[in-house]
Amino acid sequence: MSETSQFFADKTMFVTGATGFLGKVLIERILWHLPRIRRIFLLTRPHSARNTEVAAAIRAERAIFGSPIFNRLRSRYGERFEALVREKVKIVAGDLSVSGLGLSPGCLKEIGSEMDFVINVAASVAFDAPLDQSVRLNTLGPLHLLNFAKQFSHPTFLHVSTAYVTGQRSEWVREEILQPDVSPLDLMGSSHNERFGTDFEIERALRLAESVESESRTRAATREFRHAARRQFNPDRMLDDGALDAAAEKNRQRWVRDVLSRDGRSRARQFGWFDSYTFTKAMGEQLLAKCSGGIPVIIVRPTIIESSLDQPEPGWLEGYRTSTPILLGYGKGEIPDFPGHRDSIIDFVPVDFVANALLATLTTAARSNRPRVFQIASSSENPLGWSELIEYCREYFQHLPLQTGSHPIIPKPWKHRSREEFDTWIRWRQSLLHIGLSLCHPVRFWPVAERLGLQLARQQTHFKRLQSYSRTYGDYVRLFCRFANDNTRLLAQSLPKEDQQQFFFDPKAIAWRKYIQEVHLPAIRRHCVKSMGHHFCAIGEPRQLSLLLD
Ligand SMILES: NC(=O)c1ccc[n+]([C@@H]2O[C@H](COP(=O)([O-])OP(=O)(O)OC[C@H]3O[C@@H](n4cnc5c(N)ncnc54)[C@H](OP(=O)(O)O)[C@@H]3O)[C@@H](O)[C@H]2O)c1
Repeated sequence: MSETSQFFADKTMFVTGATGFLGKVLIERILWHLPRIRRIFLLTRPHSARNTEVAAAIRAERAIFGSPIFNRLRSRYGERFEALVREKVKIVAGDLSVSGLGLSPGCLKEIGSEMDFVINVAASVAFDAPLDQSVRLNTLGPLHLLNFAKQFSHPTFLHVSTAYVTGQRSEWVREEILQPDVSPLDLMGSSHNERFGTDFEIERALRLAESVESESRTRAATREFRHAARRQFNPDRMLDDGALDAAAEKNRQRWVRDVLSRDGRSRARQFGWFDSYTFTKAMGEQLLAKCSGGIPVIIVRPTIIESSLDQPEPGWLEGYRTSTPILLGYGKGEIPDFPGHRDSIIDFVPVDFVANALLATLTTAARSNRPRVFQIASSSENPLGWSELIEYCREYFQHLPLQTGSHPIIPKPWKHRSREEFDTWIRWRQSLLHIGLSLCHPVRFWPVAERLGLQLARQQTHFKRLQSYSRTYGDYVRLFCRFANDNTRLLAQSLPKEDQQQFFFDPKAIAWRKYIQEVHLPAIRRHCVKSMGHHFCAIGEPRQLSLLLD
């Protein structure tokens, strides 16, 4: 048994976020490599307010252990797999965004007084979530969990953050804890109108959410939402009050969400963050820095987590996330250009590297007043250029194009326009589409005009989506900074040889062209394309090469 496996023998863990992408890979790694772990408690949100423990267990059975990621464990253990899960894993109903985690007294009793590791993986990863939701989960959530951890006698607390908490940077981003009340603009020495204060921002976000909610319920606002709802229905249709109320309520909720989401973005950008995600994750780190109170706190900051390189299989991926909308959109011919900077660096890390590194960091915990930071990144040792990535994608889609109907889609090279050029180009295309649509409209009874109108309307939707992608992801593809990973590298080197193999996370080992063309894009194809009604031309499956060697 490896040293790391021995280290975890008879230990207990409390983990959040196990239904998510990284969480599932982490749990698989634990059950695969650390069979002598005593117990893993998984905080899971029940999808029903009644009998929450049972509801959470049912949910976990489907959302975690029903996943194909556990296939190789199922093969290893056969019929004993269910028994293994029952023996090692205890599902706990709760919610990270509430103080006390919403744990029931029965649960607390079962958890007992011993816990070796408390690991926070859960977060809201939407870049444009309403600010108060992100604050509750990404900022206050880690603090609630830290307070929970403090009730145990010798816990180590591990928090998964993101490398982008430092916002817009052009130089090296070091593995240093973010201090409270310091914003990216402060770090860059830039002046700004308003002083940034962590506690103030948290309170402001929560107060704003309350006031927006009350404003949405005033009589005048209710009238507006009902008017808008009536306009959404066909004027000839007789409407009952129930249908109108339901549509008005949807409009109200959408309005509240939009206001809070826009505020999150503008507040974040005012202080030098990209969006409410990085802003609220940064404040989460700042609260940990302030409140860690002597228990070992480890902060792990991955960059952009993509499909697995090797474990549990090459190309494990879930969801329509991170780079997938852009890379797939390129393959589908829906993204004819994107405002990334040709020379910028895009920092990808495979999800198995992140899960392995998380486990390795736990073996190094030391009592200290300051949290220790580990960045899991590729840009410092093996940078991948944005234009290189797009070129690899172009080559791939040229050989294995997507097709709609019988037409293969061969994507063209991008021009890599600047953001200003890109916005002008989009506006110009939209004006043309608008003119085209207004010409088609009066003669839409003519089948050719109707078909053309539909085509133009579809293009209009694509351009709107493109604009939204540019707003959401644009900052991440115009970055020149590199993320230092000295702590992570030294950690890897300090592991015994056998553990270095089992818990592998050396970014130098990634051969980018192979990874993108033989692992990541095929993973996107397997996980996302089929469900979207596109398929690839049958030019053969990519070969599975030995991925760790170039
Ligand atoms: N994905 C990336 O590229 C990336 C990059 C850097 C860092 N990270 C960090 O890595 C971590 C995992 O990301 P991911 O990509 O795996 O995200 P994900 O797939 O969206 O998973 C998020 C997890 O958080 C849980 N969660 C959400 N709200 C919760 C609540 N109120 N209480 C308890 N659990 C809640 C979700 O549970 P439900 O199923 O109940 O919603 C889910 O298990 C996050 O901390 C993220 O910030 C991600």
